[in-house]
This record gives sequence, structure tokens and C-alpha cells, in this order.
Amino acid sequence: MKIILASHNLHKVEEMKTVLRDLSVEIITLDDYPEVGDIEETGETLEENALLKARTVNRITGIPAIGDDTGLEVDSLDGGPGVYSARYAGEHATYEDNINKLLAEMSDMGENERTARFRTVAAFVDGETELTSEGKIEGMITFEPKGMFGFGYDPLFFIPEMNCTFAELSAEEKNKISHRGHALRNLYKHLSALWSSKL
Ligand code: IMP
Repeated sequence: MKIILASHNLHKVEEMKTVLRDLSVEIITLDDYPEVGDIEETGETLEENALLKARTVNRITGIPAIGDDTGLEVDSLDGGPGVYSARYAGEHATYEDNINKLLAEMSDMGENERTARFRTVAAFVDGETELTSEGKIEGMITFEPKGMFGFGYDPLFFIPEMNCTFAELSAEEKNKISHRGHALRNLYKHLSALWSSKL
């Protein structure tokens, strides 16, 4: 059996592949499917967007698909940027634009106002079954970027238990504790249960 990852984001795809390595299925990417263009995130929740990505890619390729959507939720910004994390600084914002905007918005906030979490919803769609699963991790927004690994908001996301930001962890270390790692491992458990019940 094959599963296709419904993302053009190479960082994400690498993380997803690593977590799903143990699944006894072949993991393929959108590289061989140029007909799948950018999928607009029109949903109002992470779950809607994750399902939208997985459904679109499953419909076009005919292959069971896994999509994910992630939001950074800052408590003192009422859970924002949340589902709008990718477009926080505008429609074509870069990671750097988003980081700068977040730091500017929070510039007068003290340490106790900087609590936040990453939340991911992962979705599996094969035309018959639809499954979703969630993962999250609690942390704090730093006062300046730190670390060189990862992507997106990673240099601003400090994990107290690790005493460092996501961008200071290797991909392997990040996957063990991250929102995406948890969401995909939960999805994997649901899928395994589903498949063994069908045997
Ligand atoms: P999406 O899931 O691709 O819509 O991601 C939303 C936004 O959150 C994008 O700007 C990503 O760069 C950012 N993002 C998603 N996952 C992560 C992560 O694991 N670390 C840091 N930023 C992330």
C-alpha cells in the first residue's frame, strides 16, 4: 500500500516521512504529481484545512493521502495567529516576515504573557475512510530568534523542558516531542487499528 503526503513544504514532508517511517507502507510525495498545485487553505479550523489538503490530493491522485495543518496559538493574542499562522504577515509572507510581525506584536509583553502552543491536526483520506488526529506542545515565545534548524516559527518557540527552542533541536529530537510528531503517531495508531480490524 502507498500513502501520499499532501504537502509541498519540504521541511514538513521530511518530518512527516521520518515519523511515518515505521508504518509498513510506501510513503510517496507530491514530487511526481505536478498536476497538484498549491492547495488554498480556505477552512476556518486546522481540522478543515487538514481534511481539505488530504481530500484534494486523494481525489487528484487516487492514492490514500495524509495532510496536516498547523497553528501557533499564543495565549495573549487570543490563540492567534492560529489557523492563520502561514499568512500572519500577509498573503505571501515569508517565515522571516511572520517572525518579525510576531515579535513586534509581542514586544511589550513580559515573560508570563508569552505562553503558547503549536497544534497540528493530521488527516487521512482514502475515498472511503476519513480519520483525523491532533497533537500539541506547550511552550513560550522568545524575545528574539534562536537556533538554526527547523523552519517557520521554530526559532521563536522555546520548550521549557528542553531549555531550548525548536530551532536548536535536531530533526529527530524535534519529531519526538513535536505537535506534528504526536499528531502523526496518533493517526498511525488509529490507522493500524482500522487496518487490523479489516484483516
Ligand atoms: P501550515 O500547516 O502549512 O498551514 O503551517 C502554518 C504556518 O505555521 C506556516 O507559516 C508554517 O511555517 C508554520 N509551521 C507549521 N509547522 C511548523 C513547525 O513545526 N514549526 C514552526 N513553524 C511551523
